[in-house]
Amino acid sequence: MAFNRRIKIKQLIEEGKLGEQVTLMGWVRTKRSNKHISFIALNDGSTIKNYQIVADPSLINEDVLRKISTGACIKAKGTVVASQGAGQSAELAAASITVLGEADPEKFPLQPKKHSMEFLRENAHLRMRTNTFAAIFRVRHALAFAVHKYFNDKGFFYIHTPIITASDAEGAGETFKVTTLDLKNPPLTLDGKIDFKQDFFERETNLTVSGQLEGELAALALSDIYTFGPTFRAENSNTTRHLAEFWMIEPEMAFYDAEDNQDLAEDFLKYVISYALDHCQDDLAFLDQRAAEEEQQKKADQRSELGLIDRLKMVVENQFVRLTYTEAIDILKNSNPNKKKKFSFLIEGWGSDLQSEHERYLVEKHFKKPVILSDYPKEIKSFYMRQNDDGKTVAAMDILFPGIGEIVGGSQREERLDKLTERMDEMGIPKEEMWWYLETRRFGTTPHAGFGLGFERMVQFVTGMGNIRDVIAFPRTPGNAEF
Ligand code: 4AD
Ligand code: MG
Repeated sequence: MAFNRRIKIKQLIEEGKLGEQVTLMGWVRTKRSNKHISFIALNDGSTIKNYQIVADPSLINEDVLRKISTGACIKAKGTVVASQGAGQSAELAAASITVLGEADPEKFPLQPKKHSMEFLRENAHLRMRTNTFAAIFRVRHALAFAVHKYFNDKGFFYIHTPIITASDAEGAGETFKVTTLDLKNPPLTLDGKIDFKQDFFERETNLTVSGQLEGELAALALSDIYTFGPTFRAENSNTTRHLAEFWMIEPEMAFYDAEDNQDLAEDFLKYVISYALDHCQDDLAFLDQRAAEEEQQKKADQRSELGLIDRLKMVVENQFVRLTYTEAIDILKNSNPNKKKKFSFLIEGWGSDLQSEHERYLVEKHFKKPVILSDYPKEIKSFYMRQNDDGKTVAAMDILFPGIGEIVGGSQREERLDKLTERMDEMGIPKEEMWWYLETRRFGTTPHAGFGLGFERMVQFVTGMGNIRDVIAFPRTPGNAEF
C-alpha cells in the first residue's frame, strides 16, 4: 500500500474540508497539553501556516502523546472540525496519531524561541524547519520559476553552459582549479612547472565564473538565450553580498544594443519581483513583519524609510534612473560624504572604480530608486565590452538596487573583430585559447548584448535578508563548506 495518502496543509487550508476525514504528515512546531486535551501545531513546509491538531488522551495513547515534542515528525488521521479557538477556523480532531520520527527535546537544537542567525547558519541542516528559512526557500523557488517563465514566454532558450572550463571569462583570475593530479607529487615539465598535459583534460581547467562567453555562441545562432546555473569565484571577500558559489542568470541577445539591453533588464527585474508579490503573499507578509522588527533594532538614522513590501512595490512601480558613469562621478564628487571625507574610498575624479558605498549612496540617498549606470571607463571593465566612439568608455551597464548595491552587470558586446583583438592584446588576454570566441566575430558577427543577474542578491532583495548566506541553502564562503 502506498504510504503517502495525505493532504498538504496548504491545500487543506484552501479547501476547508469541514467534516471530512484527512491524513496530515509534518513536523511538530509546538505542543500544549493539559490533563484533558493536547493541541499540536503541525507544519509540513507547504505553507508558512501551521495546522492545529487536537488530541484527546482518551483516544490517543499516552505513550504516543509523550513522544510528540517540538521537531518530531508525525502522521495524524482524523476529522476536520470547526475550531473553538482563535487563530484558525478549522482544526483536525485526531482519531489516530503515529510518531514517524521522534526528536529528543534534550537534544533537538531548534526550540520554540528566537534563535540567532549565526546559530541557525551553524545548524543549516535544520534551519529550513524554521518559519523564516522555509519562507525564504519558498520565495527563492518562486523567483527561479518566474525567471524561467519570463524568458520562456519571450521565446528565449535555456542553454546549459559548462561548469568546468579552460577559460576565465572575466579575466579576473579568481578561479577554483579543477584537477585530478596528485597534489603531493604532481608531474612536472622540464622547466619545473606543473605538467597539465598529464591532467584529466590535458590542460589547466577551473570552475566557471560565468556562462557568458558560451552564451554568446548560442545567441549568435538562436537569437535569444539565457543561462541559469552555478558560478564560482574564489575572491576572498567576506561580505554580506558575496558567495564563493552563487547562481547567475545570464540572458544574451543577438540584434540588441545597449539600450535594448537596459530595457530588457528593467522589464525582467520588475516581472520577477511582481511575480513574487503576486504568488508569495503569506511568506512576504511574514518576512515584511520580520524585517520591520529588525529595523526597530537599528539606530534611528540607519533605518530604511520603506518596509519590505513597499520597497518591492517601489521597484515595480517606478522607472529606473539611467545615467552614465561620468554623470555619477560628478554627483559623487560633490556629495556630502565625499566632501566631508566620510567615504572610505574618496572619489578623486573620473576613472575611479565605484565601491559599494558609492553605489548605495546613489541609490539610497541621492535618487532613492534603482539606478542603471552605463558607459564606464574601459580600464575598469572586461575586454569583451563594446568600445564607445569616445575612445575612453565601453557600453557597460550596472544596475544598482537599494540595500544591495550592484545586482546586475552587463554590456553590449564588442562585435568588431579588429576592436576586440586590439583590446585583448592591450589587456593580455590570450587570443589562441579563445579562438572559438573570436570565430563568432569572424563569421556572421552582429551587434549583441547581455547581462548577468546574481540570483542570491535578487533573493536577498525580495526577502529582505541582510546576509547573502541566509538565502542559499548551504552557503560556500571562505572557510566554510560544511553540509
Ligand atoms: O558583474 P558580473 O561579474 O558580470 C558577469 O559575470 C557577466 N559575465 C555577466 C554578463 O554580462 N553575462 O556578475 C554579475 C552579477 C553581479 O551583478 C552580482 O549580482 C552577481 O553576479 N555576483 C555575485 N553574487 C554573489 N556572490 C558573488 N561573489 C558575486 N559576484 C557577482
Ligand atoms: Mg559586475
